[in-house]
Amino acid sequence: MSHNLLKGKKGIIFGALDEKSIAWKTALRCVAEGAEIVLTNAPVAIRMGEINKLAEQCKAPVIGADVTNMDDLDNLFLKTKEHFGGGVDFILHSIGMSVNVRKGNDYTNLNYDYMHKSVDISAMSFHRVLQTAIKHDAINEWGSVVALTFIAAHLAFPNYNEMADIKAMLESITRSFGYQYGMKKNVRINTVSQSPTMTTAGQGISGFDGFVSFSEKMSPLGNATADQCAEFTVSLFSDYTRMVTMQNLFHDGGFSSTGVTEAVIQQMSK
Ligand SMILES: NC(=O)c1ccc[n+]([C@@H]2O[C@H](COP(=O)([O-])OP(=O)(O)OC[C@H]3O[C@@H](n4cnc5c(N)ncnc54)[C@H](O)[C@@H]3O)[C@@H](O)[C@H]2O)c1
Repeated sequence: MSHNLLKGKKGIIFGALDEKSIAWKTALRCVAEGAEIVLTNAPVAIRMGEINKLAEQCKAPVIGADVTNMDDLDNLFLKTKEHFGGGVDFILHSIGMSVNVRKGNDYTNLNYDYMHKSVDISAMSFHRVLQTAIKHDAINEWGSVVALTFIAAHLAFPNYNEMADIKAMLESITRSFGYQYGMKKNVRINTVSQSPTMTTAGQGISGFDGFVSFSEKMSPLGNATADQCAEFTVSLFSDYTRMVTMQNLFHDGGFSSTGVTEAVIQQMSK
């Protein structure tokens, strides 16, 4: 069901790899709500993933960009402006990758070259995207930008590894750039802190299945799905949330505010 919440709006969606990706679901939802979009991902992900299938469904061009490469980002914003004949109204940053997690390195034994790369891809990239957007004046007045994060930026989750620190940086960039872009152009910037979700990035974390079940039991409303995350993000791109900025918004069924649930107590009782 569509409410035409994004009718006439234009946006860029970063990070749709396959059908499980949060960005994939968000792209479909944005288009269903009346938006026109440009899809982007790293060239290697475009080759290995299924983004062209999504592009057909969304009638959207795919413009490759490695978010750690400023030339790629310049090209993305220039081509997007050309495509739409002007700026965009929303951007989704749905990008995360930990090299140390991939290599199986424990948090107490990190490789710092890998960590540099992980920070660049997963947090600094948000600054790079926003700085490039400002440079090209590519986001329209009252535009909305959302990046995805996880509660491990606030609470310790051992297997989330270096990504906990990196998500904390992402959330900080959201506040710092939210101030700048708000003052300059009334552009709002927020993070959505999503429940654990079975995607390629999520499944890279060891013990993820068990954690998803634990989180389901620890959330009064249960885990939020990727589809529900897409719907929430659409609301943040819509005109109904124009005064919300520089926030980290928990989309997690209440997990972040729950100390313990009956279900967990029962499971722990002898
Ligand atoms: N899955 C979860 O449990 C969960 C929970 C909370 C937040 N998140 C966040 O949601 C976001 C999306 O992840 P997802 O779960 O949909 O997984 P996903 O693996 O489908 O998406 C991650 C995307 O990042 C892209 N990417 C990686 N390196 C890149 C680069 N150099 N340049 C451009 N793009 C690059 C990948 O190609 C992929 O499309 C991430 O920020 C993730 O941390 C995920």
